[in-house]
Amino acid sequence: MKHHVKLRKPLIKELKKSNVKGTIVQSQPLWVRIFHWGFAVSLTIVILSGLQLHKPASFLALNFSKVLTAHIVFGWFSLGFLAIRIADALIRWDDSLIPKVQDLRHFPQLMSYYFFLRSSPPPARKYNSGQLLIYFSWFVLFLLSSFLGLVSYWQGEHLIWVWRLIGGFQVLRWTKFITTIYFLATIPVHIYLSLTEDISRLQAMVTGYERKPSPNNR
Ligand code: HEM
Repeated sequence: MKHHVKLRKPLIKELKKSNVKGTIVQSQPLWVRIFHWGFAVSLTIVILSGLQLHKPASFLALNFSKVLTAHIVFGWFSLGFLAIRIADALIRWDDSLIPKVQDLRHFPQLMSYYFFLRSSPPPARKYNSGQLLIYFSWFVLFLLSSFLGLVSYWQGEHLIWVWRLIGGFQVLRWTKFITTIYFLATIPVHIYLSLTEDISRLQAMVTGYERKPSPNNR
C-alpha cells in the first residue's frame, strides 16, 4: 500500500535536486527546436510524396494531383523553417552549423570512434565534424532540389537557361532522385546516432535543456 506522506514543498525541492546528477543547462534555443521539428516533419513528407510522384504505389491509390500539391506545399513549409533557422543564426550570430577547417581535421578520429577503434570522440564545437558535414550537405542539397523543383514547376516558362545548363528535364529528375536517395541513406544515420550517442542531446532538442555532469556531482 502506498503511504502518502505530506512533505513541505522546499523539502521536496531539495530531494529532487539531490537526485539530479549534474547541472541543467540550456543548449537548444526555442527557434532551433521549432526549426528542427518543423523541418524534419515537412521534409519527411516532401521525400515520401516525392517518391510517390516518381513511382506511384498502386496499392495506395492516392490521387496524383493531391500528392503533387502536398509535395509542393510541404516543400514551401520546409523552406520556411529553414528561413527561420537562417534568421535565428544571423540574429544570434551563431556559426554552430558552419563547417570549419578545424572541425573537419577531426573527421578521421571521429570515424575511428564510430567504428569502435577509439574509446572517446575527438574534441568538437557544438556539433562534431560528421554532423556538420551531414547537416550542411542537407541544406545545400535541399536548396538545390527546391530550386530544381521550381524550375520544373514552371515547365520551361521561366528559368529556361537552367534546363539548358543542366541538360534537360531527365537530368533534372535524376538529380532530384539521387538527392532523395542521399537523404534516405543519411536520415536514418542521424536518427540512430541521436538515439544512441548521448540521449540528453535529444532531450535538449525537445525541451531546450540538457543535463551536463558538473564537477562536484560526478
Ligand atoms: C525522429 C527523427 C529525428 C530525431 C530523433 C532527431 C534528433 C536530433 C538531435 C538530438 C539533434 C541535436 C544533435 C546534437 O545536439 O548533437 C538534431 C539536430 C539536427 N537535426 Fe535531427 N532528428 C530527427 C530527424 C531529423 C530530420 C528528418 C532532419 C532533416 C533532414 C533533421 C535535421 C537536423 C538538423 C539540421 C540538426 C541541426 C539543428 C540545428 O542546430 O539547427 N533531423 N536532431
